[in-house]
Amino acid sequence: MNIILLGPPGAGKGTQARRLVEKRAMVQLSTGDMLRNARASGSPMGRRVAEVMDRGELVTDEIVIGLIEEKLESGAPGGFIFDGFPRTLAQADALEALLASKGKRLGAAIEMKVDDDALVERITGRFTCGDCGEVYHDKTRPTAKPGVCDVCGGTDMKRRADDNEESLRQRLMEYYKKTSPLLGYYHAKGLLAEIDGLAAPDTVEAEIASVLSEGPGGS
Ligand code: AP5
Repeated sequence: MNIILLGPPGAGKGTQARRLVEKRAMVQLSTGDMLRNARASGSPMGRRVAEVMDRGELVTDEIVIGLIEEKLESGAPGGFIFDGFPRTLAQADALEALLASKGKRLGAAIEMKVDDDALVERITGRFTCGDCGEVYHDKTRPTAKPGVCDVCGGTDMKRRADDNEESLRQRLMEYYKKTSPLLGYYHAKGLLAEIDGLAAPDTVEAEIASVLSEGPGGS
């Protein structure tokens, strides 16, 4: 099944997407990761988007739709996980058209509901392994050995430039203004499933699993 993980910054989209990739042979398409890779490559597009991301604003629809289009060419035996895409109604329409052009369709848009106070705590404590991308948190998910990734043994731990309270406020504003209308859009299509993103990661994973087996109406 092809699914969208929808939710504000820090809702746990990336954390759950990684679990789905590992356990269900799904393919994660994170526009945030793609943009950070473009930025790290120093390409002209990467330089253009870096400032926008650091301010917590959305990159243009044209750029992210282009990135997704390219990735849809690859196969996904267990389905695609759209993580952080779509974020605007224009992106949602483009995704539907792109999937249809490849004979695919969306199975569910899963909203991970989390309140704003929890997001500040989650975002300001987050760090990731620069080698394998595993996501950690200073308080709730530290590495077993300080500075060493539990998964791959890497020692290149990274914090994102936009993971500070000021950028987060702007990212939240963008989410409520431009992305939250997608909740109504997918509800009207019968594709919206709501889950409690404040629950423990294993519980969130189980809720997503039930959407995958029963469809959006069964959750
Ligand atoms: P992006 O990279 O997509 O960031 P985001 O949506 O702000 O989401 P995050 O990655 O911050 O959070 P997450 O929900 O994945 O949480 P995580 O699992 O890491 O986008 C970044 C920027 O790129 C945007 O601001 C924009 O500029 C640009 N961009 C990207 N896509 C775009 C698009 N389509 N259009 C336009 N611009 C775009 O978890 C967070 C923390 O919480 C971690 O420390 C984790 O350990 C912890 N945690 C996770 N789950 C739980 C749990 N259940 N309980 C307790 N702690 C938990």
